[in-house]
Amino acid sequence: MNISIKEKILSTLINANGEPVSGQKLADELQISRTMIWKHLKSIEEDGYVIEAIKKKGYILRSIPDLVTPAQVIPKLSTKYLGRNMDYYTTCETTQVIAADKAREDAPHGTVIIAEEQTAGKGRLERSWDSSANKGIWMSVIIRPKISPEFAAPFTLVSAVAITQAIQDVTNLAPQIKWPNDILINGKKVTGILTELQAEMDIVHSIIIGIGVNVNQELSTFDESIQSIATSLKIETGEEIDRSLLVAKILYYLEKYGDLYVEKGFQPIKILWESHNCTIGKRIRATMLRETVEGVALGITNDGVLELKLDSGEIRGVYSADIHLLGRN
Ligand code: BTN
Repeated sequence: MNISIKEKILSTLINANGEPVSGQKLADELQISRTMIWKHLKSIEEDGYVIEAIKKKGYILRSIPDLVTPAQVIPKLSTKYLGRNMDYYTTCETTQVIAADKAREDAPHGTVIIAEEQTAGKGRLERSWDSSANKGIWMSVIIRPKISPEFAAPFTLVSAVAITQAIQDVTNLAPQIKWPNDILINGKKVTGILTELQAEMDIVHSIIIGIGVNVNQELSTFDESIQSIATSLKIETGEEIDRSLLVAKILYYLEKYGDLYVEKGFQPIKILWESHNCTIGKRIRATMLRETVEGVALGITNDGVLELKLDSGEIRGVYSADIHLLGRN
């Protein structure tokens, strides 16, 4: 596990549940001086934590800012490997590129790169992704399943199911999935997923699952260009959401359903995906690289490909497209 001394001190304070933690005990356990402990505590306070020092007893954590630091996420994790190695940034251009570099450098299966803010967040189809500071979940997950590349694409649907389930658990909302992996609430986008592959012809080296969830933004803080199509969990619930809890839940379901897919294939995931989807049975417009077609979405195949019945009666498999829902068939 990749935890600094500062994060260890913070975890100890969090785990003490409001009880004082002795400075001497911390110094002994971490084998550093009391002065160094004090310096780390000051730095923790600068991050927004409120710490009270009580004479002869020690330090009590009085309040925790809403951050997605490893110190806040890891105690909430119930995974075997996802998120157990976590790299945190207060700001970065995009977690997706950091993750791609780390994946090439042999980062372990399950490594998570997470940031409070991205200054050049990447969306699908070369779009940008609005990733304002401290309001959302901006993370890239590196997994190394032992599969060949033709089985990699469904991981994007696996991720959509996992995030939908996690949002449902934490908020009681019932998000819906627009094929392949946009997550909508009341027809507006709350989550985007960008899946990238590092592979050779016959073996996957890594899959990088980039996850962006709009959590605590107000509508007015979104760029004007997306205000009519985007939403956040706070807008939908009227409540501030604990981002670190949601990160831990997403990682839990991603590990669970990712393992299920590798062990049992796409069928069980397909059932879950269908139960959350808002695409099948609808008339849609699919904009692909070379053409745009309209028709009725019939379902998804066992590989996650969308089957579309065009007005001519032809049934077309859509592998990758931007989908616009036009209503019922
Ligand atoms: C989409 O267009 O719907 C996909 C958006 C994916 C955004 C996430 S945020 C974390 C990761 N880093 C990025 O730059 N993009 C992905």
